[in-house]
Amino acid sequence: MLTLGIETSCDETAAAVLQDEKVLSNIVSSQIDIHKKYGGVVPELASREHLKNLIPIIREALSSALVSLSDINLVAVTYTPGLIGALLVGVSTAKAIAYALNIPFIGVHHGEGHILAAHIEYPAIDYPYIALLVSGGHTALYQVRGLGEYGLLGQTRDDAAGEAYDKVAKLLGLDYPGGPVVDRLAQDGDHTAIKFPRGHLEGYDFSFSGLKTAVRNHIALFMSKDRGLDPDLNVRDVAAGFQAAVVDTLVEKTVNAAVETGVDKIVVAGGVAANSSLRKKMNEEAEKRGISLYLPGMGLCIDNAAMIALAGYLHHKRGETSKLDLNPRPTMQL
Ligand code: KG4
Ligand code: ZN
Repeated sequence: MLTLGIETSCDETAAAVLQDEKVLSNIVSSQIDIHKKYGGVVPELASREHLKNLIPIIREALSSALVSLSDINLVAVTYTPGLIGALLVGVSTAKAIAYALNIPFIGVHHGEGHILAAHIEYPAIDYPYIALLVSGGHTALYQVRGLGEYGLLGQTRDDAAGEAYDKVAKLLGLDYPGGPVVDRLAQDGDHTAIKFPRGHLEGYDFSFSGLKTAVRNHIALFMSKDRGLDPDLNVRDVAAGFQAAVVDTLVEKTVNAAVETGVDKIVVAGGVAANSSLRKKMNEEAEKRGISLYLPGMGLCIDNAAMIALAGYLHHKRGETSKLDLNPRPTMQL
C-alpha cells in the first residue's frame, strides 16, 4: 500500500511517500527565506509559493521513493487547521490526484499528524500515552487512548508556545522563526539572571501572554527613543530566562498529567519539540519518575508530510476515507 502525503498548512510545502507505515521519502521545502523579511508568515505569499512548489515537491517525493504517480494507492492531505489559502492548494491538488487516479483520498488534522509522527520513529509505541503538542499554532495536552481518541486535558488560553517564541524573538530584533534562534542564544545565557514569571493556571491549561509582557517590559527598560536598544541588554540572558519559564511550565504540566492519569508514556510533538532545553528537561523529569519518553527526531517535529501520510494511512486501514467535497477549514479542535 503506497500513500502519498501532502502538507501545505503554513509555510512548508511538503510531500512524502509511505509504503504501509514505512517512510520511503519525506521532502520539505521551507518558505522561511521569503517570509523572514516581513517578520512572520504572509498568507498570500504562502499560498502562491505552495502553488509554485507543490507539484515539483511531489515529483521529488515520488522519484526519491523510486515509485511513479500511478503506483500510489491513497492520497492523504492536511485539511485543517492552517492558513485557508495555503490549505486550499494542498487539498485541491490531493483531490485532483485522487480523482485522476481513481484512488481514495483522506483529509488529516495537522495536529493529529504531529502526534502520530512519534509512531514513525517508534513503531512499537503502545496506547495510551500523554501527548504534549507544542507548535506555532498549538499548545495542548492530550490523553491519547487510541487512534482518533484524543482526550483534551488542557490547552493554551492565549498564545501557543511557538508563537510566544516568535514574538519574543521579534521584540529582541531577531529573525523569524524565533524558536531556533532563541534556543541557540539561550544556550549561552544565564537562565537565573532574569526571573520571568511562570503562568500558574489550574489544571493543565497554559498561558504565555503574561510571560511575553514581562519580557517586553524588561526590554523596554533598555530601550530609548533616540538610541534604540541599549547594547547593555543581555539578549542571551533574556532568551535563557524566557526559555526556562516556557520549558518549566511545559515539563511540569506534562509530567503531572502522566502521574495523575497513571499513564507512563509521554510523546512530545510539534515544532517546539525540537527545542534543546525542552528535550533535555523532559528527559530528566521523565526518567526520575520511570516514565518512557518518545521524542521524534527534529525532522519529524517540524512540519512534514510523512506524519500526514501516516495518519491518513492508519485511518484508511480501518475503513475511513474522505469525500471529494471535503473543504479545508482554518480552525478545528482535534
Ligand atoms: O510544527 P511547526 O513546524 O508548525 C506549526 O504547526 O506551527 O512549528 C513551528 C514553530 C515556530 O513557532 C517555531 O519558532 C517553533 O516551532 N520552533 C521552536 C524551535 N524550532 C522551531 N521553538 C523553540 N525551540 C526550537 N528549537
Ligand atoms: Zn505544525
